[in-house]
Amino acid sequence: YKRITTKSLIEMKANGEKISMLTAYDFTMAKIVDTAGIDVILVGDSASNVMAGHETTLPITLDQMIYHASSVVRAIERSLVVVDLPFGSYQSDPKEALRSAIRIMKESGGHAVKLEGGKEIKESIKKILNAGIPVMGHLGLTPQSIYKFGTYTVRAKEDEEADKLIEDAKLLERLGCFALVLEKIPAHLAEKVAKSIAIPVIGIGAGGGVDGQVLVIHDMLGMNNEFSPRFLRRYMDLYEGMTKAIGQYVADVKSSDFPNEKEQY
Ligand code: KIV
Ligand code: NA
Repeated sequence: YKRITTKSLIEMKANGEKISMLTAYDFTMAKIVDTAGIDVILVGDSASNVMAGHETTLPITLDQMIYHASSVVRAIERSLVVVDLPFGSYQSDPKEALRSAIRIMKESGGHAVKLEGGKEIKESIKKILNAGIPVMGHLGLTPQSIYKFGTYTVRAKEDEEADKLIEDAKLLERLGCFALVLEKIPAHLAEKVAKSIAIPVIGIGAGGGVDGQVLVIHDMLGMNNEFSPRFLRRYMDLYEGMTKAIGQYVADVKSSDFPNEKEQY
């Protein structure tokens, strides 16, 4: 694929090709992620945690999401850019949801939006889709509802919640969503959902029986050594690497080793 579209992702699922997705929130990181061959870049509201240092995803604003998303869009050549609608920008009514989605598309140049929830936000999803804006769903652990759940533990372990999740996944497909994120649910349930719908299911903490995987880039690069959920695989230890590099720089400045003769004009 020269350029990933929502159609490419549905084709990938049909062909049994797994979909790779990572978050990015800024130009430099997005350029690296895109060049390295990722299929989908998610400008997640996890920027609230990772970029701004908030404890939850709730405080980040639509303007801040647009700032992150427009920085990412300027960097990419191939990836599909999906942007989270932040908490408070779509829950109150479908018209507001559509206005928020339109602002993201117009002001950031992103290619699609992601919303958390199923049946509760059905009318909003319909309205956004009717405007020609592709929608990615997000079920399971939905961090914007953290104060309702109370914890970040595994979701849908009970039959009742699992049944609702399956219903919601089918509803999202029927409405016309092009894909769906399942966060932190039992692997067997995620696999069952992936097999029962034709649109791709991208998992995070949802096992290997789904159609693709997503991780927060700072987590998979090992920049945050305080966050170690079971589902996270660290591909680098950037925390260690960066701490060493910065420590060396400090020492070199203090000792007047830096800059040397060649590093000046
Ligand atoms: O905001 C985010 O990073 C996400 C992913 C974890 C799916 O929504
Ligand atoms: Na998110």
